[in-house]
Amino acid sequence: MTGSVTVRVPAKVNVQLAVGGARADGFHDLANVFLAVGLYDEVTVTPADALRITCEGPDASQVPLDRTNLAARAAEKLAARYGRRADVNIHIAKDIPVAGGMAGGSADGAGALVACDALWGTGASRDELLEICAELGSDVPFSLVGGAALGTGRGEKLRVLPVGGSFHWVFAVADGGLSTPAVYGEFDRLNEGLVMPEPVASGVLLEALASGDVPALAAAVSNDLQSAALSLRPSLASALAVGVEGGALAAIVSGSGPTTAFLVADAEAGAKVVDALVAAGVCRAARVAVGPVSGAVPV
Ligand code: C5P
Repeated sequence: MTGSVTVRVPAKVNVQLAVGGARADGFHDLANVFLAVGLYDEVTVTPADALRITCEGPDASQVPLDRTNLAARAAEKLAARYGRRADVNIHIAKDIPVAGGMAGGSADGAGALVACDALWGTGASRDELLEICAELGSDVPFSLVGGAALGTGRGEKLRVLPVGGSFHWVFAVADGGLSTPAVYGEFDRLNEGLVMPEPVASGVLLEALASGDVPALAAAVSNDLQSAALSLRPSLASALAVGVEGGALAAIVSGSGPTTAFLVADAEAGAKVVDALVAAGVCRAARVAVGPVSGAVPV
């Protein structure tokens, strides 16, 4: 086998993240409205003697290059299922913030899976790939699918959502990551003793997405993990405030953070928010992206 396959996979922002109480298995039931946005990792697989991972990009030093990397686990799971060795070099060109609440690790898992499937000619069905994605992590199926979707269960059961337009975002990348289990743990601590309602998707928010109504979406975005992320990282409050002062229509922690996400009216408004965030020195980098975009696709 020769050649190589490259797959491009987007980041995500959660426009709604409704979180229920902790389940017996430690996970939380969610109503998780995902939107794929145009910041991408590219995963390239090339035949090799053994499984190896390399990574390039500004945050490459923070990416694990061992078997804990979801890209390695994806290759191993697909290989095991098809009775072959996971003998590939996986190269990740990383542009999605690491441990930032934007599903960067999940993107690499989905990317490696699609790339190995194409390289090996396994011909796995979409449902089989989605099943492996769900085994890899709660957000991985969405990285494969992209667009916009409602994730229920622990976030892995997806219903594709209609989107009637494009949404412009600014992302403020924080210094250092936040551990997702730690944020969920803090969520449990903050809600200890409370009866947690079942998480449900907001009808108003789904309608705003479907009609492409930016102000309506801005009024409806919510993230139940935000208090927990702010509790662990109080400095994120300054970034949220600066973005709003800079003209953002909505400011929210992205997933479990620490990236903060700002919904803006258009590209021009986005540039102003970027300037405000950079001038105030409240983030390591400010990025712009538009969503929805496609999920994992070979390039
Ligand atoms: O599914 P994934 O491996 O990405 O989840 C990482 C961690 O995030 C889990 O071990 C759990 O602590 C937390 N989590 C959760 N409920 C979810 C998804 C993730 O508690 N629905």
